[in-house]
Amino acid sequence: MLVQEIEDSFGLQVCKKQSLVIERGLGVWVWDTAGEKYLDFTAGWGVTCLGHAHPLIVETISKQAALIIQNPNSGFTYSPARAELILELQKVLPDSLTRMFFANSGAEANDAALKLARKITGRSKVVSLHGSFHGRTLATLSVSGGPQNGARYLPRVPGQNFCLHNNGAELGDHVDDSVAAVILELVQGEGGVRAMDASFVKQVRALCDKHGCLMIIDEVQTGFCRTGRFFATDYYDVQPDILTMGKGIAGGLAFAALAMSEHVASAVELGDHGGTYCGNPLSCAVAAGVTRYLREHNIAAQVSGLGALAIEDLLELQQQFPDMIRQVRGRGLMLALELHSDDMVWPLTDLCQQKGLLVTPTRNAVVRLLPSLLLTEREWSIGVQRLASALSALQVDRASLAA
Ligand SMILES: Cc1ncc(COP(=O)(O)O)c(C=O)c1O
Repeated sequence: MLVQEIEDSFGLQVCKKQSLVIERGLGVWVWDTAGEKYLDFTAGWGVTCLGHAHPLIVETISKQAALIIQNPNSGFTYSPARAELILELQKVLPDSLTRMFFANSGAEANDAALKLARKITGRSKVVSLHGSFHGRTLATLSVSGGPQNGARYLPRVPGQNFCLHNNGAELGDHVDDSVAAVILELVQGEGGVRAMDASFVKQVRALCDKHGCLMIIDEVQTGFCRTGRFFATDYYDVQPDILTMGKGIAGGLAFAALAMSEHVASAVELGDHGGTYCGNPLSCAVAAGVTRYLREHNIAAQVSGLGALAIEDLLELQQQFPDMIRQVRGRGLMLALELHSDDMVWPLTDLCQQKGLLVTPTRNAVVRLLPSLLLTEREWSIGVQRLASALSALQVDRASLAA
């Protein structure tokens, strides 16, 4: 049986499939089983920040796996790899975030943050933003997207309130003494790469201080240099109560973390949280290596420089294809093309694939580009040429359909 047949017949069908069987990757390139080579501008949903098969990751996995993968009684026992990761994260996190815990996915880290907010405040109401995405557990789904999002899994977790991003007046109406937390992404990822204004973020902090609720910043997608700073929080003069991390943290391994202030940590009692794999030595060793590499090589600055060039090139593409591209957005190597309609997104994604470029289709008529952070200028320009060629083909296809 072919790979596709097996997956289509026996895998749970939860998303539209691309006709692509990927076998291996190296740097920013991946190969399918037929030997075709593609430029990967998805980084596996923004995860493989050092590219595919980076020697640091390969060697660390092999070395740590030969030592130990999972501790006896996991969190009951200490681990040199976990301690090393804590020290590395301390060097890059905002100063106020002094305590850390680990998880296996971004959703799990956010879920834990919401749980802690309930515990510390004794309240359950959460304010989040329209267009946000915080994960697919029941709690995180309930604070994602908008009021309609939890409707498939009724009853949704009660007490969720959504505001428009960058709308201070609406935020002020929602945050009061009954709120446990405000959770937000500083640049919405799944929502189409939309950055928060500095004044809005400051207002969130001020309202949380006034009403005794927690400010949770979800850096699952924006963290680990993706936006051109180590954390997107570094663009804003603000200290959250909890910051959640995932995706790039371990360069491709399923891993996540949350960091919190001493005040939040002081409310946690034994048995409040845990998990079989949380802080397993294998993922911790890799995450420590990735964190150190990003910091020591100042990858944030590199990403910021290439990101600026990328925006210039994408704006040129917009001038060339004004009937296709409505807007270009981005910070660092978190980039988006907003097209004129939703029905352009999958055709453009498929055409890019035909031209040897993999991009990420997103809601709201957006195609995202989330390449490895080690992308070179040369590789970027190959990608832009392929994107231009796909846009040109889409223009022809749409013109012939309209004729
Ligand atoms: C901002 C943000 N938070 C949370 C998540 C959920 O992370 P995971 O898929 O690892 O559970 C995502 C995933 O895309 C995300 O972009």
